[in-house]
Amino acid sequence: ETLRDRSLAAVAEHIKSGKARRIVVMTGAGISTAAGIPDFRSPETGLYANLAKLNLPQPEAVFDLVFFRQNPEPFYVLAKDLYPGNFHPTVSHVFIRLLSKKGLLLQLFTQNIDCLERAAGIPDDLIVEAHGSFAHQRCIECKTPYPEDLMREHVQVAKVPRCLDEACGGLVKPDIVFFHEAMPSLFYHRRELVDRADLALILGTSLQVHPFASLPSLVRDGVPRVLFNMERVGGLGSQADDVLELGDCDTGVRKLADALGWRDELEAEWRA
Ligand code: OAD
Repeated sequence: ETLRDRSLAAVAEHIKSGKARRIVVMTGAGISTAAGIPDFRSPETGLYANLAKLNLPQPEAVFDLVFFRQNPEPFYVLAKDLYPGNFHPTVSHVFIRLLSKKGLLLQLFTQNIDCLERAAGIPDDLIVEAHGSFAHQRCIECKTPYPEDLMREHVQVAKVPRCLDEACGGLVKPDIVFFHEAMPSLFYHRRELVDRADLALILGTSLQVHPFASLPSLVRDGVPRVLFNMERVGGLGSQADDVLELGDCDTGVRKLADALGWRDELEAEWRA
């Protein structure tokens, strides 16, 4: 076993000793709930539990391309609550930024579409937005890009934007990966990096959506995997070097920062 024991103190030692210099981070909606953005699957507060009023066949339909073509309104009702611009990065985002600043971040894989990783200052080339984001949008038929200012105007009033080419008139959709759509090719290219990681941190995800959910299984044997999550997920904890930090991820991350001696820096960057 690589770690002295299955504690954050042991993880901090692993990092401080210089044995972890290629850290891979995998994140989901749970790292943004402290920013005021609901996650998807939490029983009371998650978006899927609160979509009943939209009369969907099932909650996931809101991110389903086949459904969207027939009925785009529910997605735009939801987009109003998720649209970037009003949210600030959390302690967890800032911790990942600290890893990049210290040259320890090999790659961040996020399922989030809220763009808070960029807002936290993590360099673009270290981020894989596996499910796309609200950063760009285009017509789903002719693929013509659609301007951001018009997008924002529509989203604010939950209005469905249409292709500016009137002959086309197709529906406009942000470049978020819907069910029945391909993941970005960057995800498949960068996924190979997981094999080179010497530490994996997994934060705020239920690991229910594939292929993202299989990333932790690509971490090499003997490389520690640390889960910061409200609940145990994805079979993590089953390997000798798995560390489970169950609870709020910002609290867990602060604990790790304390053990690393990075706490002041973390808080200062978070407040900045
Ligand atoms: P989920 O909502 O499925 O899971 C969020 C996880 O984070 C759950 O396990 C929560 O218990 C946990 N959690 C919530 N708040 C937390 C906190 N403050 N600290 C620690 N853990 C917390 O979200 P994802 O796993 O990201 O697809 O969902 C994956 C994909 O499903 C999303 O990318 C989305 C959805 O369909 C698209 O947007 C295309």
